Amino acid sequence: MTTVQDLAAKAGDERITMLTAYDAPTAEIVEEAGVDAILVGDSMGNAVLGHDSTLPVTVDEVRSRTAAVARATDDALVVADMPFLSYGVDESDAVEHCGRMLKEADANAVKLESGPHTVDLTERLVDLGIPVMAHLGLTPQRVNQLGGYFRQGTDEESATEMLDLARAHEEAGAFSLVLEHVPSNVARQITEALDIPTIGIGAGPDTDGQVLVLNDVFGMSDRTPPFSAQFGDVKSEMEDAVEGFREAVESGEFPAEEHSYDEDAVEDLY
Ligand code: KIV
Repeated sequence: MTTVQDLAAKAGDERITMLTAYDAPTAEIVEEAGVDAILVGDSMGNAVLGHDSTLPVTVDEVRSRTAAVARATDDALVVADMPFLSYGVDESDAVEHCGRMLKEADANAVKLESGPHTVDLTERLVDLGIPVMAHLGLTPQRVNQLGGYFRQGTDEESATEMLDLARAHEEAGAFSLVLEHVPSNVARQITEALDIPTIGIGAGPDTDGQVLVLNDVFGMSDRTPPFSAQFGDVKSEMEDAVEGFREAVESGEFPAEEHSYDEDAVEDLY
């Protein structure tokens, strides 16, 4: 099994790979491809639950989907992404919500969208044996405050603030840091300043690893952020399969003889 120490050991030598997954069959595909870590992202709100943001996602939804992903994986590090307001309000609630991901869903770590309010919490969770992946830059749970999904750290002051927060989370014991939608030169300097690995999404090529949302990688999303990329066209394959089913049923081709049988022991019923 990949451990948080394995990720740290890889950094600098080999690039770390992480993808999201929200269910067992796709987690199995991700793991079989040799991806290091699976993030059960709160992006499930948009990707699979039909919401138009991550805000409505609940602790129970993340817990249930993390458990499904963990049941399907042996090797990848499984990281549960803590949803909006499940942390940062009351410390003991946050500890309970994060702890449930390890106790009940078999996650190996949690991710928190980070800020000044998560430094002490990170330290507390790590003290309790809950590994924490921090997340800076664009933190989509703050979309209402940010006014949109904009690039972050675009001026000296905000980039310096991000660097300070990154250092504070490293000191608090976070084992890695996601950097989302930040200029490449900012991500590079933060990566150079830290010992823990950085994993970028929309943060350029110089982070220690890369993460993407699986639906984007599959080519299943209607809208993808400008920094994402499609590596397949799964949506059109799925459309073809469903169309094929409809046509076969309507034309009487399905079910065919090989999909059906008569039971000899059953006499004529009337
Ligand atoms: O929820 C998610 O998928 C994420 C990644 C985009 C890093 O937080």
